[in-house]
Amino acid sequence: MDLYEYQAKHLFGKHGVPVIAGEVCTTPELARQAARKIGTAVVVKAQVKAGGRGKAGGVKLATDPDDAFAKAEAILGLDIKGHIVRRVLVTEASDIAEEYYVSFLLDRANRTFLAMASFEGGMDIEEVAATKPEALARIQVDALEGVSAAKAAEIAAAANFPVEVRDQIELVLQQLWQVLVQEDATLVEVNPLVRTPDGRIVALDGKVSLDDNANYRHASHADFLDRDETDAIELRAKELDLNYVKLSGEVGIIGNGAGLVMSTLDVVAYAGEEFGGVRPANFLDIGGGASAQVMANGLDIVLNDPEVKAVLVNVFGGITSCDAVADGIVQAIAMLAERGEPVTKPIVARIDGNNAVEGRRILAESGLSIVEMADTMDSAARRVAELASQAK
Ligand SMILES: Nc1ncnc2c1ncn2[C@@H]1O[C@H](COP(=O)(O)OP(=O)(O)OP(=O)(O)O)[C@@H](O)[C@H]1O
Ligand SMILES: [Mg+2]
Repeated sequence: MDLYEYQAKHLFGKHGVPVIAGEVCTTPELARQAARKIGTAVVVKAQVKAGGRGKAGGVKLATDPDDAFAKAEAILGLDIKGHIVRRVLVTEASDIAEEYYVSFLLDRANRTFLAMASFEGGMDIEEVAATKPEALARIQVDALEGVSAAKAAEIAAAANFPVEVRDQIELVLQQLWQVLVQEDATLVEVNPLVRTPDGRIVALDGKVSLDDNANYRHASHADFLDRDETDAIELRAKELDLNYVKLSGEVGIIGNGAGLVMSTLDVVAYAGEEFGGVRPANFLDIGGGASAQVMANGLDIVLNDPEVKAVLVNVFGGITSCDAVADGIVQAIAMLAERGEPVTKPIVARIDGNNAVEGRRILAESGLSIVEMADTMDSAARRVAELASQAK
């Protein structure tokens, strides 16, 4: 999960990184009030999960509260790289002597962590990286050793930070590393990290990406979840504790076990080529030992996607018992009918393995004409692609 600047700064503050307080505002009037409270010139900053906000007109200086109103009015509603600005951060304007760049990230290709730092930070860091790579220091950080005082000194020296502020920057580097480790982040970036004319070091911007796999360790991270930006169906799936990922095709997919679901996506995409390029609409793994209720929740989620034209249930029963899967299908269809949303989309079920005979019997005797059974994964994929293409 990527965080907004104001959320990243909240984590920075928690770990001692110097930031300037600010207020998140959703209307120009609230921005005016925030500026009045701050009492100095302010900067009004678009809160979107995209880089290059400054260049897109999403960061503006305001000299007084009325100006903050006007700047917020201009920024709210802007479209920055496909993200509509719904909130601005109003924060004290800082005097800037120099702008630096620092970040830590997970370097998957090299199986390590990487520190990047530059004396030439600010809005053109991408250009610096492209045209003057020597100005962007890259230092590997061992996951177990982390950023000690010595490591921080090595990074600061490689980046050529001025000696007068090195002590402060080295401390900030160690604190940012703590943000990465203790919050389970995969990216922590500050651009710009500024030096004020009176020699203080402050993080004026912040980017953090959290590792969602570690969410169970951080109850407080749930507050960062952004309901405006998350797909409504994905949000509901999360509430139901389902492993669901929305894709862009027409065939809803439900399976048990991530490996089986992944290969089902491949087989359906392949079969779909013959039927005008029909593709999978989602990934949904109901897991091992799934009960009828879980199956019903899964079908509910997938059938609710308006782009889905047909559904493939591909279950190989190991721990999961196929009769529970069949019960789940029957229950889900009954539940949706009761809710006034009768299922009209065709469902192809390929169920095999533990208690398959009983599962097939349940489906056959259910009298549900929209459910078809298939013997193999390939024939199921072909059939569901055909049905989806007919409904297109
Ligand atoms: N509080 C502030 N006081 C003074 N100037 C600021 C302040 N915040 C930002 N700026 C100036 O605005 C520029 C852009 O701000 P910021 O880095 O937050 O956005 P951005 O870099 O354009 O966005 P992104 O990092 O997402 O690409 C900074 O480089 C800095 O010069
Ligand atoms: Mg920035």
